[in-house]
Amino acid sequence: MYTSFVTFSILVSAALGGAIRQRQAPHCIESLIPITASATNFDLSSGSAPANATVHVSGTFGIQLRLCAPTTPVSSRSKTLQVLVPGATYNTEYWDAGFEPETYSYVRFAAANGYWTLNMARLGDGKSARPDGITVVQVPFEVAVVSEIVKLARAGRIPGTQGEIEKVIVLGHSLGSVILNSVIESVPSFVDAVVFTGYSHTVGSEDVAVADFRPASEIAPERFPGLSSTYLTSLNITTRGAGLYGAPGTFDPAALEWDEETKDTATIGELLTFPGAAGRAAPSFKGNVFTINGDQDGVFCSKPECANLADEVQFYPGARSVEFGVVLDAGHSVNFHLSAPKLYTAVQEWLNKHGY
Ligand SMILES: *[C@@H]1O[C@H](CO)[C@@H](O)[C@H](O)[C@H]1NC(C)=O
Ligand SMILES: *[C@@H]1O[C@H](CO)[C@@H](O)[C@H](O)[C@H]1NC(C)=O
Repeated sequence: MYTSFVTFSILVSAALGGAIRQRQAPHCIESLIPITASATNFDLSSGSAPANATVHVSGTFGIQLRLCAPTTPVSSRSKTLQVLVPGATYNTEYWDAGFEPETYSYVRFAAANGYWTLNMARLGDGKSARPDGITVVQVPFEVAVVSEIVKLARAGRIPGTQGEIEKVIVLGHSLGSVILNSVIESVPSFVDAVVFTGYSHTVGSEDVAVADFRPASEIAPERFPGLSSTYLTSLNITTRGAGLYGAPGTFDPAALEWDEETKDTATIGELLTFPGAAGRAAPSFKGNVFTINGDQDGVFCSKPECANLADEVQFYPGARSVEFGVVLDAGHSVNFHLSAPKLYTAVQEWLNKHGY
């Protein structure tokens, strides 16, 4: 098979701000489907992740899915599905924001470009089941769950899909990207292309911990009554802005307010197992890889302009292409920044370039 490495960078400058056109809401089907998965998790009884995973875990849990149809038909894309996975403390709102969705909803953007999307909540998040947040909801088990969903999607077995899917593109944010990085390691033949946002293999000096994670049932008891204290969320709007957003002026404060109101959870198990998983390679993946971060992402982007992203190529030695991009004037949670439409355009240009 022909293999080549191409590395380029898209610098999306503020001056390129395109006209925002009205985008209609796509027709979507919500479902909660039982997913059976098994994985080898870590023994976290010491309060940290040991070197190797040793604990076999299996089970069947309900996962929240939202399948949305294209709003503009594009025949060459009618059998292509984009699977969207949110990061820690985000749910289906991350890729399909209810706040000014004509600007901030990637789902609407993709639908207008002719794509089906499968937006989801991770296990332990949104309307998905919330099993034990230490022993069950860890990255290895999340990887097994998302791999199952990708396999079902490919086979056209997700409620609402019309027949077989020929191309599967997966997009992640942060922890969602970490999970997808292991999905393309474990079921590489089921995925054609991957877009990582808010992620790289090199974790920077600043820490998402600035967001100050505490038990969600204490921080937002009206939204998470009685939820186990193994489920966490960020403390308040100030810490969330400091940990996940760029400098003042890079986002509409009303977008952060919406994010604060709709914020979701992450488990202790996910947070303890995510640094180890972030560094994994996916040597058997043969598709196309695109990593794109905000230039003010303090966790996964080094200065200047995410120079560390040039190193990503080494983790995908079998890939058809490995490329990266940088969105100027955006922090870690790019989709809630004023430059979100520039991220979406850069992703679309990359998809166009590779014929998706
Ligand atoms: C972890 O697994 C690796 C590879 O199987 C092995 O070489 C190493 O000794 C293991 N480490 C521990 C602490 O068990
Ligand atoms: C959020 O918590 C931090 C740390 O306790 C505090 O300094 C800040 O004032 C709080 N912000 C709000 C809006 O309550």
